[in-house]
Amino acid sequence: MPLLCLERMSNKHLIRSSVVFVLFTVVASTPPEDPIRCSSGNTSCTITNSYGSFPDRSICRVAQVFYPTTEQELVIVVASATRNKTKMKVATRYSHSIPKLVCPEGQDGWLISTKYLNKIVKIDVAAMTMTVESGVTLKQLINEAAKAGLALPYAPYWWGLTIGGLMGTGAHGSTLWNVGSSVHDYVLNLRIVTPAAPQDGYAKVHTLNQQHQDLNAAKLSLGVLGVISQITLKVEAMFKRSIRYVSKNDSDLGDQVGGFGHAHEFADITWYPSQRKVVYRVDDRVPIDTVGNGLYDFIPFRPTPSPELAILRTTEDIQESTRDTNGKCIGSRTTMNTLLITAYGLTNNGIIFTGYPVIGFQNRLQASGTCLDSLPDARITTCAWDSRVKGEFFHQTTFSIGLSVVKNFIEDVQELVQLEPKGLCGVELYNGILMRYVKTSSAYLGKQEDAVDFDITYYRSKDPMTPRLYEDILEEIEQIGIFKYGGLPHWGKNRNLAFQGAISKYKNANNFLEVKDRYDPQGLFSSTWTDQMLGLKSEVTILKHGCALEGLCICSQDTHCNPSKGYYCRPGKVYKEARVCTHLKVH
Ligand SMILES: *[C@@H]1O[C@H](CO)[C@@H](O)[C@H](O)[C@H]1NC(C)=O
Ligand SMILES: *[C@@H]1O[C@H](CO)[C@@H](O)[C@H](O)[C@H]1NC(C)=O
Ligand SMILES: *[C@@H]1O[C@H](CO)[C@@H](O)[C@H](O)[C@H]1NC(C)=O
Repeated sequence: MPLLCLERMSNKHLIRSSVVFVLFTVVASTPPEDPIRCSSGNTSCTITNSYGSFPDRSICRVAQVFYPTTEQELVIVVASATRNKTKMKVATRYSHSIPKLVCPEGQDGWLISTKYLNKIVKIDVAAMTMTVESGVTLKQLINEAAKAGLALPYAPYWWGLTIGGLMGTGAHGSTLWNVGSSVHDYVLNLRIVTPAAPQDGYAKVHTLNQQHQDLNAAKLSLGVLGVISQITLKVEAMFKRSIRYVSKNDSDLGDQVGGFGHAHEFADITWYPSQRKVVYRVDDRVPIDTVGNGLYDFIPFRPTPSPELAILRTTEDIQESTRDTNGKCIGSRTTMNTLLITAYGLTNNGIIFTGYPVIGFQNRLQASGTCLDSLPDARITTCAWDSRVKGEFFHQTTFSIGLSVVKNFIEDVQELVQLEPKGLCGVELYNGILMRYVKTSSAYLGKQEDAVDFDITYYRSKDPMTPRLYEDILEEIEQIGIFKYGGLPHWGKNRNLAFQGAISKYKNANNFLEVKDRYDPQGLFSSTWTDQMLGLKSEVTILKHGCALEGLCICSQDTHCNPSKGYYCRPGKVYKEARVCTHLKVH
């Protein structure tokens, strides 16, 4: 999820009013655009993600979109496509995955949207389980559970995801406790519709519970097995949490990271490497009768005035084109300080923040996303990354590093910062590096060991040939994480190169592929892209001019960077095996 800075200042462009805007903006925003657009009815359509662009900037075309409202209707759609050997993919309400998982092969494929497959099927308070259709959003799930006195203990922080979509990409919250922070590890039961042989009516519903090995494939499947219709989750009785943000310097971050995660159930860390600062979220369960009705309405996920977004983007564009690194660093300090004094959007009572700790019910603290709330009106305010307006446009590099080597990774990044102290101010404009804890998963494509997930968001130019400031530092960190320490890419984020060789990092990958062959032998739910991600076809990387700038390749020659703008392919500074686009001073 993007963690977007709303406060930017440069020494040239002082945006005085933005603090006021952010703190007092309560205007509702336009709901995000439907990611599917059709030229006639539900045919001849394109689909994109909520950011309006896949990593390779390709346009995805489909012949038709279907909106089943029940499992029976879903079975009919899958059966018709299978009968006709039509390629298909599942699409969700908002389409938040960055890689093009949603795109069926070719241009004649079908999309099956879960937009109206969004009902709560059953809540069993005694058993503490919840059965929902796959298009139910996290927001809906949290709210409905709360009405029954129940809570999902760990989940992503952004509530605009659907349960099917977040499971399909292995999305998670942050904890090292219990079975961990991955939502898919709380699945008890799941119903998935897959292609089938003619004698079976071309489509089949598989009902999987924890006794079925296949659940380990279906609960994190990148959408290549079929369409999940229903999910039963293990939930808990409602509980309360107590949250406190503590800011420190980052000198001993590498030593703190493991212990901190074990000490606090909902711990996470936000790291601002160029400022040498860390914000620890000290976050624990407290007795349900503890006084407090706190609310987390994360500021970067609130509606933002579109004119402000345009100013921020213009400022960032200018800082990039004029190499105004100081401006970025000033902006990054302002961003961090603003978020700290506003407690990142925490309030003690839903209205104001009066001090730590903030204590409240799980459903009010675990996730947010008020920018999704809507007035059916024009573009007054939006989510900051809404592609209809001039606003944020970024890359997201996200990988998890095993706890046993995470200290080394952190120290490598710190060494890079020693060499280029301002190198990561640009990342801090997007609220720094978010570090969340994840645990070993039973999912075949899930986490292979207890780890820390690093979420790094940074400027992306609208022009694919335009490098970014400290291009080399960002590329080196990406390669250190993914290759030197064998980081596992977040399946729903990242640029192409993060998936290079990824499948070999999963010891049960073959089990996954076996299930895939059994459920969808013709690969109707697969595409060249998912085959590449799964190591079944050529490389995920694309070699062409400027490919390294967009993360489509690791540079091996200067043309993969942009020599005309002074960027050449060179070894890394700390990780010599890295190959990064480095800006060389003109002689
Ligand atoms: C497109 O699909 C929606 C949802 O099923 C349906 O309500 C609508 O009538 C369809 N549009 C056309 C032109 O068929
Ligand atoms: C079957 O597939 C072909 C080729 O993709 C397509 O032209 C045709 O319209 C499809 N038929 C149906 C009923 O969708
Ligand atoms: C960081 O903080 C620790 C105390 O927590 C202190 O001992 C150390 O000197 C600080 N380092 C820097 C570089 O400020």
